[in-house]
Amino acid sequence: MDATKAAKAFEYAQRDEAASGTQEGAINAAIESRLRELHTVLPGIIRSFDAVTQTATVQPAIRRIFVSQGAVDLPELVDCPVCFPGGGGFFLTFPVTAGDECLIHFSERAIDHWFEFGGVQDPSEARFHDLSDAFVTVGVTSQPSKLASCGTSGVELRSRDGTTKIKIAGTKVTVEAATVDICGTSEPAVLGDALKTLYNAHVHVCAAPGSPSAVPTVPMSAAQLSAKVKIG
Ligand SMILES: [Fe+2]
Repeated sequence: MDATKAAKAFEYAQRDEAASGTQEGAINAAIESRLRELHTVLPGIIRSFDAVTQTATVQPAIRRIFVSQGAVDLPELVDCPVCFPGGGGFFLTFPVTAGDECLIHFSERAIDHWFEFGGVQDPSEARFHDLSDAFVTVGVTSQPSKLASCGTSGVELRSRDGTTKIKIAGTKVTVEAATVDICGTSEPAVLGDALKTLYNAHVHVCAAPGSPSAVPTVPMSAAQLSAKVKIG
């Protein structure tokens, strides 16, 4: 934003604090004054996350500007429900961590009764778009904390650096990870091609008619190997 635009934006933000001699000006000032307290959506920074209640304390990341005080941080918002994608009994959860960027959504009515009891409730107080009624979604990023790379085909459930991920694209699911546990950790998976090579070459010691025996009369083939699931 250049200096002229910045000055104009500042003037606009402070209009209700400047004397206005016209009726229109007074009405505009009153509306703008109310709008400044009508919170909708703001970026924020997670300060702490409670995994038991799935709520966060969050710092709004845009300051308020006052003529007398200058730039002032909005207060930290506490007990903000954190929104994870979910439905039908399934959820995607994330280990929300202090410092994570987030998006803060402000409810148009007080959420306390809904938060405590669920269901359809009366508002607990006559608040509208208030700082006390914030929800948090995680995953939004400013440019300094954006992902170094972002998949442009299919869907990825991934680590920040992309070295660990599950990707679905077209008819294929790809898993990339240092280790993968499937249904437990008690036994290692078999490498199909390696087993095939070993099996087809193996022989037995036997007394007659010779030693060692011949290789298997029915060798292992691709028919015994999955064409759809591959590991290793
Ligand atoms: Fe054998």
